[in-house]
Amino acid sequence: MALLNIRKFPDPALKDPAKPVANIDGGLTNFIESMVQTMYAAPGVGLAAPQVGDSRRVVVLDTDHQNPGKKLLRLINPKVVAAEGSVIWEEGCLSVVDYTADVKRAARVLVRAWTPEEKEIEIEADDLLAVALQHEIDHLDGKLFIDRISRIKRELYRRKLAKLIKEGKADGQRPSSVRI
Ligand code: NI
Repeated sequence: MALLNIRKFPDPALKDPAKPVANIDGGLTNFIESMVQTMYAAPGVGLAAPQVGDSRRVVVLDTDHQNPGKKLLRLINPKVVAAEGSVIWEEGCLSVVDYTADVKRAARVLVRAWTPEEKEIEIEADDLLAVALQHEIDHLDGKLFIDRISRIKRELYRRKLAKLIKEGKADGQRPSSVRI
């Protein structure tokens, strides 16, 4: 199965809000499997369709890379239906090279979604999974975590990225950070 190409900021595909999936078919489930392989290969704990240039509301997540597949989620049209508390988490993203930042999110969320087996499910999440679900659903709305930090921090990142691109070093990732 071919790996998909992960778009990087400032690729305009990352800004497009994705459209709800109206029909789950074989083409979609094959695409979702390609997303899963791409996420593990990256490696990242989550991947949203707009990150691979596809404008459908689909995300995949696995917060436990020690046991790949055990906690794997394939979600179609995911939606946060309840949220409470707040948490600050240092986030990274497969689409944002060489950068992490503290982002404020809800500490606990209840997410409703469809699976490729056409079952409607609810996921109660806290900790990394809660953060990752909100981060991925943001991708579906055309938002990156750097849209949730201060303007000055975002501007400093833009400058840093421009410098890295000029020096030909923009493909490095911080290995220690969790990329969502
Ligand atoms: Ni991301």
